[in-house]
Amino acid sequence: MDFERVVRGRRMVRSFTSQPVAPAMVDQLCDLARRAPTAGHTAGVEFLVLEGDDTASYWNATLPAGAEREGFAWPGLLAAPVLVVVWVDPGAYVDRYREPDKAHTGLGAGEEAWGVPYWFVDGGAAMMTMLLAARDRGLGAAFFGMFDHEEAVRQRFGVPPGRRGVGTVAIGHHAGDDRPSRSANRGRPDLAAVVHRARWQR
Ligand SMILES: Cc1cc2nc3c(=O)[nH]c(=O)nc-3n(C[C@H](O)[C@H](O)[C@H](O)COP(=O)(O)O)c2cc1C
Repeated sequence: MDFERVVRGRRMVRSFTSQPVAPAMVDQLCDLARRAPTAGHTAGVEFLVLEGDDTASYWNATLPAGAEREGFAWPGLLAAPVLVVVWVDPGAYVDRYREPDKAHTGLGAGEEAWGVPYWFVDGGAAMMTMLLAARDRGLGAAFFGMFDHEEAVRQRFGVPPGRRGVGTVAIGHHAGDDRPSRSANRGRPDLAAVVHRARWQR
């Protein structure tokens, strides 16, 4: 697929068939995602890949069976054969910016020194690359947050302390009965409303 079609055609897919995705394909998606840029080339972005029964374990940790799951707005999301949880390592960024070529920035002092926490910027870039790579291969994918379940996911899958969860990318084959989220109905502002050429005025 050409790049513009991939970008324009990508949508969050929240309903999947049970058809599996080959582990080699998942590796390819992770390989592309890890090529997204990272600040100082820190490469502090990692992927927890959950396939098969491990996806059920993820949902048990984040959406316990019972009333909450019964009322979940996107039951088709739970069928996704692959979940990739994106984690970042803030400490790796602090260490990197303490190295001689970056020390002048002062960002090696600690996470608090970062006005913009680049680990989340980089995690977002990796996530977006993964979404586009999935689309390019004819797969559906959606990103969603872990919200207050980050610690539960950390515990269940042995994620080291210090890593921060960016969120989860569900990947699989589109079931076709998807329902866009209310957010998507907001529409997209015109180009002129978001491009401020030379000066911020409308
Ligand atoms: C940082 C970020 C967080 C998001 N979190 C969620 C989420 O928790 N649950 C969800 O259903 N969609 C989530 N979305 C998807 C957005 O709602 C969606 O991208 C937006 O409505 C536009 O729709 P589209 O991506 O299909 O074009 C998130 C998107 C981003 C970029």
